[in-house]
Amino acid sequence: GSASKGDYRHFMLKEIHEQPAVIAETLEGRLGDRSVLVESFGPGAEALFSRAAQIHLVACGTSYHAGLVARYWLERYAGIPVQVEVASEYRYRQVVVPENTLFVTLSQSGETADTLAALRFAKKSGYLGSLAICNVPGSSLARESDLTLMTRAGPEIGVASTKAFTTQLTALMLLTLALGRVHGQDEEEQASLVEALRRLPAQVERVLALDAQIEDLSTAFAEKHHALFLGRGAHFPVALEGALKLKEISYIHAEAYPAGELKHGPLALVDSDMPVVSVAPNDELLDKLKSNLQEVRARGGELFVFADEGVGLSSDDGIRVLHLPPIEEALAPILYTLPLQLLSYHVAVLKGTDVDQPRNLAKSVTVE
Ligand code: AGP
Repeated sequence: GSASKGDYRHFMLKEIHEQPAVIAETLEGRLGDRSVLVESFGPGAEALFSRAAQIHLVACGTSYHAGLVARYWLERYAGIPVQVEVASEYRYRQVVVPENTLFVTLSQSGETADTLAALRFAKKSGYLGSLAICNVPGSSLARESDLTLMTRAGPEIGVASTKAFTTQLTALMLLTLALGRVHGQDEEEQASLVEALRRLPAQVERVLALDAQIEDLSTAFAEKHHALFLGRGAHFPVALEGALKLKEISYIHAEAYPAGELKHGPLALVDSDMPVVSVAPNDELLDKLKSNLQEVRARGGELFVFADEGVGLSSDDGIRVLHLPPIEEALAPILYTLPLQLLSYHVAVLKGTDVDQPRNLAKSVTVE
């Protein structure tokens, strides 16, 4: 059944490998020929989306990281201003709600206490309406929101979220395109992103095939006490998520920074005892990122880089590069999440931690 590990050693590994199938499931029936089917978000979605002049997105943990990626997408492809905030902060401050703001929550469980409290608070705060992107049908968040989009990842047992995150990102790209459609996004751009989404499950499959190479890299982390994760643009939240995974299951202290911030402080920490992990997709920030990586190398840092095979990065002294297949720029955050999940997984296994049930953590945080 769905709650069995099958041939996998841990639920987390099984859930990592389910990603091609569940991402396909998230997309199922929601794509038209050249555009997203806005009605996937329920009756009334089109009217609500047309009026949405901005978005407030609220979530916790990994779901919050998905929201941070979505901000880059929604502003770039739908032209809608977005604010993203962790629910435990949002619910206790005086939030200014501009007219026609759509309130969006993201949650695997749909039962996270702070996210649910934020929704209840938002419903009294003059929003245009609420949308929940959620993995559990019938959950409190789904029941109490005006619109819902189910991520369809299936049950996630491992405390460290994996497939819930990548299906949330897939759902958030659907939201971006749905809003883009009613807010005048270029039709060719929409059509090409829809095509890219159809190719995504197969690309995810190819990245999972790098598992043995990633396992090999993981030995360099098992004895370390700190790690730094770097990314730029929509890959800064991917770095945040990579650092969270490593912290949760391997108990190694990890921090993420937007690579452009290195010089403003964290570069002081860099030495051969602190591995630096980075993702380097082929995008407009590549040259900037490369020069940031050079700064790390020049200070004796050990780099581990997951890079597009076409960007001209290769292994050398102080830098180990693992190549990923080319991907549409917009969808790269989904693809580059996978090696970071696998890296944390293998480091945790080497360290002998309880991968599926890390100490001090619960799968869903239903108390404040
Ligand atoms: C992720 O690995 C976590 N264990 C945690 O941060 C989680 O994402 C957070 O508690 C939010 O849960 P939710 O998506 O069910 O609301």
